[in-house]
Amino acid sequence: MDAPGRIVLDALGRAPAGPELLAAAAGLPGVHLVGGAVRDLLLGSTPRELDVVVDGDPAPLLARLSAGAPGPATVHPRFATATVTVPAGRIDVARSRRERYPIPGGLPEVEPAPLADDLLRRDFTVNAIAVSLDAGELRAAPGALGDLDARRLRVLHDRSFVEDPTRLLRLARYRARLGFAVEPHTAGLAAAASLDGVSGARVGAELRLALLEPDPLAALDGVRGLPVKIDAPVARRATQLLPADGRVDLMILGILTRQVATEAWLESLGLTARDRDVGRAVWGADRLAGAMAGAPSALHAALAREPVEAVAAAGALGPGEAARRWLEELRHVRLEIGGEDLVGAGIPPGPDIGRRLARTLGRKLDGELAAGRAAELESALG
Ligand code: CTP
Repeated sequence: MDAPGRIVLDALGRAPAGPELLAAAAGLPGVHLVGGAVRDLLLGSTPRELDVVVDGDPAPLLARLSAGAPGPATVHPRFATATVTVPAGRIDVARSRRERYPIPGGLPEVEPAPLADDLLRRDFTVNAIAVSLDAGELRAAPGALGDLDARRLRVLHDRSFVEDPTRLLRLARYRARLGFAVEPHTAGLAAAASLDGVSGARVGAELRLALLEPDPLAALDGVRGLPVKIDAPVARRATQLLPADGRVDLMILGILTRQVATEAWLESLGLTARDRDVGRAVWGADRLAGAMAGAPSALHAALAREPVEAVAAAGALGPGEAARRWLEELRHVRLEIGGEDLVGAGIPPGPDIGRRLARTLGRKLDGELAAGRAAELESALG
């Protein structure tokens, strides 16, 4: 077993879902850990998911993994890949393959091929390293280990961005997350390539991945030809305003898509209905910013039903102080009394109760009430 191979297998034993994978692969030939997982383990970090390539039939490995998983494997027939989710994490399994791109920028045609070919079809050398799980043997595309050592992103061949322009977004994402430099020839190829002609759904999927990065704006930095406008100062200010219970990815998505705001765009991103609601609310940030003035009760009237992401985005467009005050302080203010207290005091149940409570909350927000239940009750009954 070579030294880097040993490092990867040892680290895999401690990684999420690693022990499950090692146990399932025991005694099976041709099973390799590959891609970002190997890269991350060699860098001493924790992989986000485990990518496995089998040089041969993946069915026995899949059967064993599925036996230990709560649900069945999700199979993607077009690419002969499958995903198994075990309690500790996600394992993607594929047969080793080569790819052909009949239409540049389109989806590839795939056919089974030896591991060496599978490594050479990949995006960057640092993602083209595999370690066999039985013997710990490391196989890599030429220059891959040197590039990893030098923390360098290099394509494997000159047509890489032409065949798959979404790799332009992957390049920016890895540069931001890993802090790697782009090798000069690769930078030249990227500058000459374009996202034109790539379907909105594919760009959208990569955009989503960028937005889930720890620094979403850095992960999009320098990417040209996106169908969205990146207003970095607004997005950065909004990120600073967003409280911990907000979703930075949805907020920035909303900010970036404000000018091209279409339902079709949101649909293509595969978001849940709730997440789409947040994106749409952020599109209304300009209107909201115009309404964020006046006393705390006025802020309450304007903002109480808005998601925090929309308020932070609106604050970034101008009324930053009002947004900060609302998000940090005012939105948490509650009455100590409830509708049952008013009913108990003789007010008949009905919409009037809600109006009295709302009026009282407004007074409390504006500092017009003494502290405590008694003052609130007196205000609500008055
Ligand atoms: N890949 C590629 N071109 C793409 C997408 C993926 O060559 N457009 C290859 C890369 O070798 C990558 C592997 O497929 O390593 C798996 O892709 P993915 O799961 O998206 O990336 P990871 O390697 O897991 O890296 P990370 O999750 O850290 O982004």
